[in-house]
Amino acid sequence: MKNQQICDFIIFGGNGDLAKRKLLPALYYLQRDDLLGRAGRIVAIARTELETGAYRQEARTNLEQRLPAGDFDSATWDALAEKLHYQKLDASKPEDYARLDAFCREGGSTAKVFYLAVPPTLFPAICENLASSGLMNDESRVVLEKPLGNDLESAQLINRQVRAFFKERQTFRIDHYLGKETVQNLLALRFANRLFEPIWNSGGVDHVQITAAETIGVEGRSGYYDNFGAMRDMVQNHLMQLLCLIAMEVPGSMDADAVRDEKLKVLRSLRRIEGEAVSHHTVRGQYEAGTVDEESVPGYLEGHGTRAESRTETFVALKAFIDNWRWSGVPFYLRTGKRLRANFAEVIIQFRNVPHSIFGTDLRHNRAANRLVLRLQPEETIKLMLLSKIPGVAEGIRMKPVALNLNFKEAFDIPRTPGAYARLLLDVLRNDPTLFVRGDESEEAWRWVDRIFAGWNDSGQRPLPYAAGSWGPDAADELIRRDGRTWGPPAEVSL
Ligand code: BG6
Repeated sequence: MKNQQICDFIIFGGNGDLAKRKLLPALYYLQRDDLLGRAGRIVAIARTELETGAYRQEARTNLEQRLPAGDFDSATWDALAEKLHYQKLDASKPEDYARLDAFCREGGSTAKVFYLAVPPTLFPAICENLASSGLMNDESRVVLEKPLGNDLESAQLINRQVRAFFKERQTFRIDHYLGKETVQNLLALRFANRLFEPIWNSGGVDHVQITAAETIGVEGRSGYYDNFGAMRDMVQNHLMQLLCLIAMEVPGSMDADAVRDEKLKVLRSLRRIEGEAVSHHTVRGQYEAGTVDEESVPGYLEGHGTRAESRTETFVALKAFIDNWRWSGVPFYLRTGKRLRANFAEVIIQFRNVPHSIFGTDLRHNRAANRLVLRLQPEETIKLMLLSKIPGVAEGIRMKPVALNLNFKEAFDIPRTPGAYARLLLDVLRNDPTLFVRGDESEEAWRWVDRIFAGWNDSGQRPLPYAAGSWGPDAADELIRRDGRTWGPPAEVSL
């Protein structure tokens, strides 16, 4: 259901880290590309006493410092600044909402987006006050950011609290990976081309790898991170969403529920990893001191804000199976970690080799044959590896893997709106929830992840140590090597 109304965009936590790092830059780029036509007033809300003029000045300085050199221009800023307002509000005080309501009425728009960039403990009070103040109507939308719970039970509680006021169609749960260009391209590649579908199954695919590797540590976020860890921070949401998009059936249309119904079926078909399987199919690690990008960095436990003896994992690798007709027996290897050797995120679809080689050399063990590599970052590329004859007449037919390479920068010579948040904020304004996570999806992902935590807790083992700047614990290599496979070649990482 698309919506043409002009919307006020109200950001709770308007002075916070997320607003500064992601939301304001995203709004800036939408303004630059003339895509903010549907936005009425953008109202930043926080508890601090601040005039709109002062807020605008802070926002401007923030953008000047944060945007890549050359991206800030005064005309775009002036147009955005005109829309940007600040309102002081204490989430628990009804009178503050009445003031906000009066302010919004002056602007004349009817629809409102409430972006809750605040901890979930504040959701009930905010939703209740929005409802009783009359700020909320059937056109309103609410945007929620993770962390939305830290297990199934707490996620269900948050969902119930929000559902008491907002219908599911009004609720937009952000997973910023879904806004990344290559992730949407995965959908285009699969469903706009005939080529892959006949082999996109256990008959054609040997295995799938999903990697999100980071060189950064937990930096200033250790208070949050130490209670979450890599599984909750990255796997339960970003990696599992990628897995869903790779594995789902063709939806009937790009309608939001058609897409999300198919993703949910994948989550429900994921084989539980529990009991004995936890130690065989998962590896968790925690970084120790080491060297990243030629700089010595301290270990996780030496960082500020982490608990002494913390067992929080900063690395996870796991092997998952989807028990349905399409994927029966195909392993999905997932891995993510902080303080790894390189910064990259990619999906590898490794196709099976030919059943019989007529070329003398044995192709069956050549893992590079027919591999589709979708690189999400740092650069956005899609490569299809094919075996090709090495040119020359001397030695018969010798093979080498070569890449058909789709580099978006080269293929599309048009300015792009950078960043996943820009795309997602625009979708909220358009009232299109296709790229947002539905409550039942999120709960199903928690259900699966909770089993793994139960297994880890039962084993009583600490996460395995790995040196910062490595590829994680050796056990992660062993997890895949045991099956006669290896993680995506590091040589491809340093492009
Ligand atoms: C966030 C996590 O959701 O994603 C962070 O909380 C992580 O810990 C970040 O660093 C990674 O996002 P991106 O877009 O840089 O891959």
